[in-house]
Amino acid sequence: NATTVSPAHSASTASTLITNIAALVTNDPSLGSPLGLVQDAAVVIEGDRIAWTGDQSKAPATDNRVDAGGRAVLPGFVDSHSHLVFAGDRTQEFNARMSGRPYSAGGIRTTVAATRAATDEELEANVTRYLAEALRQGTTTFETKSGYGLTVEDEARALRVAAAHTDEVTYLGAHIVAPEFAEDPAAYVALVTGEMLDACAPHARWIDVFCEQGAFDGDQARAILTAGRERGLHPRIHANQLSYGPGVRLAVELDAASADHCTHLTDEDVDALANSRTVATLLPGAEFSTRAEWPDARRLLDAGVTVALSTDCNPGSSFTSSVPFCIALAVRDMGMTPDEAVWSATAGGAAALRRTDIGRLTPGAYADLMLLDAPSHVHLAYRPGVPLVTGVWRRGERVL
Ligand code: NIG
Ligand code: FE
Repeated sequence: NATTVSPAHSASTASTLITNIAALVTNDPSLGSPLGLVQDAAVVIEGDRIAWTGDQSKAPATDNRVDAGGRAVLPGFVDSHSHLVFAGDRTQEFNARMSGRPYSAGGIRTTVAATRAATDEELEANVTRYLAEALRQGTTTFETKSGYGLTVEDEARALRVAAAHTDEVTYLGAHIVAPEFAEDPAAYVALVTGEMLDACAPHARWIDVFCEQGAFDGDQARAILTAGRERGLHPRIHANQLSYGPGVRLAVELDAASADHCTHLTDEDVDALANSRTVATLLPGAEFSTRAEWPDARRLLDAGVTVALSTDCNPGSSFTSSVPFCIALAVRDMGMTPDEAVWSATAGGAAALRRTDIGRLTPGAYADLMLLDAPSHVHLAYRPGVPLVTGVWRRGERVL
């Protein structure tokens, strides 16, 4: 493990040099490749920011020094899509699927019932637990959503719980039509865009909708996202996960930061994404856990689409908090190179959140980074399932 060889000063102002880095991923494209790879590198952290990166022989003097031992350092993962505010699990549903039953969004109702019945403390403890899991696997920023409450009070509560842990909070009252409104979906859309939006908007940055057969159609999704935008929330969409549909084109039409899933795409969908600022966020944990066909990352990348990779961590379709697992799947089954997958899980996630202060190790960015027990970031895909993350700094502070 890396060792600190001089005593720590006060964390807020002290500078720290991490040196003896065999391979440093900066995501600074001016260094000649998208990953901005530097060999035999060093990083200087000052307070909560990156102050300097470069050739270790040119590193400036600092208060503290950490020897990376010839290992790889990269930006912390930016998991731009998760559903962490829930209670219970869906082991039986998973077992049934692995015996051949198809996935359907209907399972969401099981988690809605468990989440409504949970106390605030239970929800809070769950989020804390899954975040700790994610941190041990290198995630330093995560987005998370409501969507398992589906009443005014339960959605607002989910967002309050989420907001205690992250600034990237998403209102997903439109996950499915709440069971009480099964006979009157229009009334549910009115609630989501009315009283529920009023209660939720103060706690969120983003608004999301599950645009899918059995959830919300294109017109409902447009109405919901437009109402959110009028309240200052920025759109993102669960789009084209289980079937072809209007979600991706709607995302582009509304300049959504991201269209998430993108499993079933027409050529028009790919073209629309390529000619937009909307990121395609791929969530291979969902295809893994639902035994669905993989999204075609190669096709998107070749068309010039910006691709992000995230976990979709939720108890139904993708119960993993592991970005390294998603990287391995994307490389093995979705046509990504290891470099592309690592970029998508760091800089790509940041782009999906419209952030430039994370997902890169360049001067001025937050000092969110990880140390791998491996000589290169490629090992994240080359050594699947191996816990390689051996150090994590968040906002300049060593947290693992
Ligand atoms: O992103 N697609 C909709 N929502 C989740 C699944 C939620 C669930 O099954 O509980 C997803 O896959
Ligand atoms: Fe999701």
